[in-house]
Amino acid sequence: MSDKPLTGRARADRQPHSLAAWRGLGGYAALSLALKRHSPEAIIAMVEAAGLRGRGGAGFPTANKWRFMRTGSEKAGPGARYLCVNGDETEPGSFKDRLLMEALPHQLIEGATIAAYAIGATEVIILVRDEYRAATAALSRAIAEAEASGLLGRDILGSGFDLTMRVHASAGRYIVGEETALIAAIEGERPVPRHRPPYPAVSGLWGRPTTVNNVETLSSVPSIIENGADWYRSLSFTDEGGTKLYGVSGCVERPQLIEAPMGSTARELLHRAGGIRNGRALLAFQPGGGATAFFEKAELDVPLDFTSTKKAGSSLGTGALIVLDDRACPVAAIGRHMRFYARESCGLCTPCRDGLPWVSKLLDTLEAGKGTRGDIEVLHQHVALSGPSGRSYCDLNTGALTPLRSGLERFGDIFTAHLQGFCPVGRP
Ligand code: NAI
Repeated sequence: MSDKPLTGRARADRQPHSLAAWRGLGGYAALSLALKRHSPEAIIAMVEAAGLRGRGGAGFPTANKWRFMRTGSEKAGPGARYLCVNGDETEPGSFKDRLLMEALPHQLIEGATIAAYAIGATEVIILVRDEYRAATAALSRAIAEAEASGLLGRDILGSGFDLTMRVHASAGRYIVGEETALIAAIEGERPVPRHRPPYPAVSGLWGRPTTVNNVETLSSVPSIIENGADWYRSLSFTDEGGTKLYGVSGCVERPQLIEAPMGSTARELLHRAGGIRNGRALLAFQPGGGATAFFEKAELDVPLDFTSTKKAGSSLGTGALIVLDDRACPVAAIGRHMRFYARESCGLCTPCRDGLPWVSKLLDTLEAGKGTRGDIEVLHQHVALSGPSGRSYCDLNTGALTPLRSGLERFGDIFTAHLQGFCPVGRP
């Protein structure tokens, strides 16, 4: 495992950092540097040179997204521009943004303020997942502290830059994390995804230019401004810059969040999490949360960055490793995910509204040892109908069926063995 330094100024602990504590660790020095020494374009160029890619799951280059916003703004003319912070972390297995918001709220506020300056936003709205009440409280307190100290509001640090920031608590549901559904939720509408294009950079919140960035992405920005792009890039094991917050959960001794160089391997991360629980063997793991394809032992040494993970047949997603040991039934595991996605979709189009509950029921029937060969064929049909073919309105359906697609490919014999009238593996 690497002994390279990491980006956090402090190890996150259970208590949120107060403004005084954050300043004591050098906090807000990056904001001061950004506002006094750098132009917005220079900041975007720095983030580009650092190789920062969005940490919400898609891995889209952050600097490109910020430039789209500047282009979108030119078309939109004068008026409001928004930065929405996506703190709706609901992906199964993912718990990184929660820690950042609860323990290091000022780091996020500092990063969001620098980003707002770079893209010309006039207001920042942090949408926080319904269940993350402690994060909402920590951020609200921290915003009030920052406002009282001239770090938000009018003429921030005497720079002439004005910015307001507020927290919007989500009313709940996984689909709110999709960026256009998130925008609808903030507008007070039902969180149904909207067609893209136009992308939010052109027409977002209330039809105005909007950027939606993930919490971890923005929390990385202050250290890039303070230490430089080369430093940030050098933290990584691969061409994709920086560190990554990897979450390790499931059948491991010590489930935990680990900040490690981007491109760390699952072998290293599992070792740090104490290995497979009770000394058992690894069956499989999902490298990026509930909606990513399975890897097995053969992929333990794949560098976990966006490019390498994709090349190896899965995706980095949110970097949440969900681990199954050799006593954990993949049919049951996929069934648990499916129940979640079926419940949490917006229900707008048929593949999610009718398809996912159907798939979920079939998986439960199979797991109970009551399924038929015909049920497995129907599962294959659902998988064949999903995918990037425009049959569903957004990507939720494709993501939800990804572990099933991958499970049928890798563990087809375990699915078939359930036809004997019982689960051959045993519940985890
Ligand atoms: P995407 O690749 O379609 O877009 C990524 C970002 O780039 C978006 O903000 C989009 O507006 C922007 N963008 C892309 N092309 C653009 C263009 N031509 N002009 C302007 N802007 C452009 O990915 P998407 O659908 O936003 O996110 C999907 C990802 O979200 C999945 O990979 C999944 O892993 C992740 N996810 C994360 C969850 C969480 O809890 N963190 C929950 C669910 C999904």
